[in-house]
Amino acid sequence: MSVYKYMRVSDTLFLYNPHVLNIMKSPVNIAVLVSGRGSNLQSIIDNMDSGYIKNAVIRVVISDFKDAFALERAKKHGIDAAFADPKGRPKQEYEAEILSLLKSHDTDLVVLAGYMRILGSTILAPYKDRIINIHPALLPSFMGLHAQEQTFEYGVKVSGCTVHFVDEGMDTGPIISQRCVPVFEDDTADTLSERILEQEHKIYPEAVKLFVEGRLSVHGRKVIIRDI
Ligand code: GRF
Repeated sequence: MSVYKYMRVSDTLFLYNPHVLNIMKSPVNIAVLVSGRGSNLQSIIDNMDSGYIKNAVIRVVISDFKDAFALERAKKHGIDAAFADPKGRPKQEYEAEILSLLKSHDTDLVVLAGYMRILGSTILAPYKDRIINIHPALLPSFMGLHAQEQTFEYGVKVSGCTVHFVDEGMDTGPIISQRCVPVFEDDTADTLSERILEQEHKIYPEAVKLFVEGRLSVHGRKVIIRDI
């Protein structure tokens, strides 16, 4: 049986697949949440500038750290840069401020790029299956903080990075894509981190592109990527 359904927009009936996360909209408005240096933010900006990611615009970059270098990167590219201060406030109130920024920028997709907080239901509920994150390990191994150090200390021979949808857990949402890197005997946690980061800068723009093109759909834990 077909999964497609009909949707009426104005006088026209459109056929759409309810499992596909974003009905094609142009441009797709993106908000990026950051806490630090923002090299993944930069890789997404660069891939938009080069035309690899089309029909999308980063409307706002939001940081929970006032001095995050990612905010400078945003300003340099003429993107709205906002600081939301979480200190001394209930999480719900802090997240309500972020939600209001997301709404005022008409956000379709939320990209976490080194954002160091667990999202609560204030943001998760209205953006279900529209928030993605990158993690510097092959999930479900080495979840949580300092993944590269955890990986290095454990002595695995292969590591990598994972892009996933965000749910209420820490690094537990459905996996969109993963990339492996080798771990060498003369590695340090730093050299391994650099090798992983190089791949992060490739798979994150790829995943954003897939979302923007409406090619991702979530079926339980599985993310299906539709061919063009
Ligand atoms: C990256 O390693 C990412 O995987 C993790 O936090 C780091 C952020 O780096 N979630 P950057 O701020 O994008 O340079």
